[in-house]
Amino acid sequence: MKARDLIDELEKVGSAPDVTCDTVKSGDPDKEIKKVAVSMFATVKNIKEISAWGADMLLVHEPTYYDHLEAGNVTPVTEAKRELVEKSGMVIYRHHDRMHAGEPDGIAEGELYYLGLRGRVEKTPYFASYLMTLDEPKTALELADLMESELGIKHVRIAGERSKKAKNIALCFGTPGGVFELLCNDGVDAVLVGEACEWQVAEYARDAAELGINKSLVVMGHIGSERDGMRLLTKRLSEAHPELEFKYFECGEVYSYTEDKNS
Ligand SMILES: [Fe+2]
Ligand SMILES: [Fe+2]
Repeated sequence: MKARDLIDELEKVGSAPDVTCDTVKSGDPDKEIKKVAVSMFATVKNIKEISAWGADMLLVHEPTYYDHLEAGNVTPVTEAKRELVEKSGMVIYRHHDRMHAGEPDGIAEGELYYLGLRGRVEKTPYFASYLMTLDEPKTALELADLMESELGIKHVRIAGERSKKAKNIALCFGTPGGVFELLCNDGVDAVLVGEACEWQVAEYARDAAELGINKSLVVMGHIGSERDGMRLLTKRLSEAHPELEFKYFECGEVYSYTEDKNS
């Protein structure tokens, strides 16, 4: 199989916007592939590890050169990284828009699968944001505990109500649109988000809770809120293509923490 064939298969899932970031970022799509790595980001550390594993191809969810359409400035960092990427010979393909455009959204599906959350999910007017009615309502603290135990997120942060049950939650994995609007929505008790604007969204949740209105913002970190979608994709691709070897590579959270003196 060529890299192009796998890309064609991925591109059948959902439709991309007219201008899509789902493109080949490096390498020759006509390359024959046997080993395919999957990750959230092609970090420098990851590229080294994935290259040492012998990957022919890497599927990533996020940009490699810090710009949604990879049209950012050339800097010493981007130049050195590009050299490393090109030396690896890997085909790097970004699987983002269609990952979110599937029915269901592949990222949300993976997050809910590994979190073990069940309920009715519906679309919102915002790209990659959903409303969910939980079968078993949970407090923000219970949701955060699940994120730490089931997803391995290091420090989940909560703004607003911690201890009242939330039945109607918004799923805003990554940094999608509509986070503030969904939190303000009367019917929404809690918003799960990758990263959000503190001065607006988090402060709104804090004031709401102080006023006795059940609102929470549960901040998972960008990678923590999306990587399980890519993990589930790896599992599905492995099952669909036993002739290929797929492996998910963890790129870790972007921040290190003061309690980890050796990281
Ligand atoms: Fe995403
Ligand atoms: Fe994202």
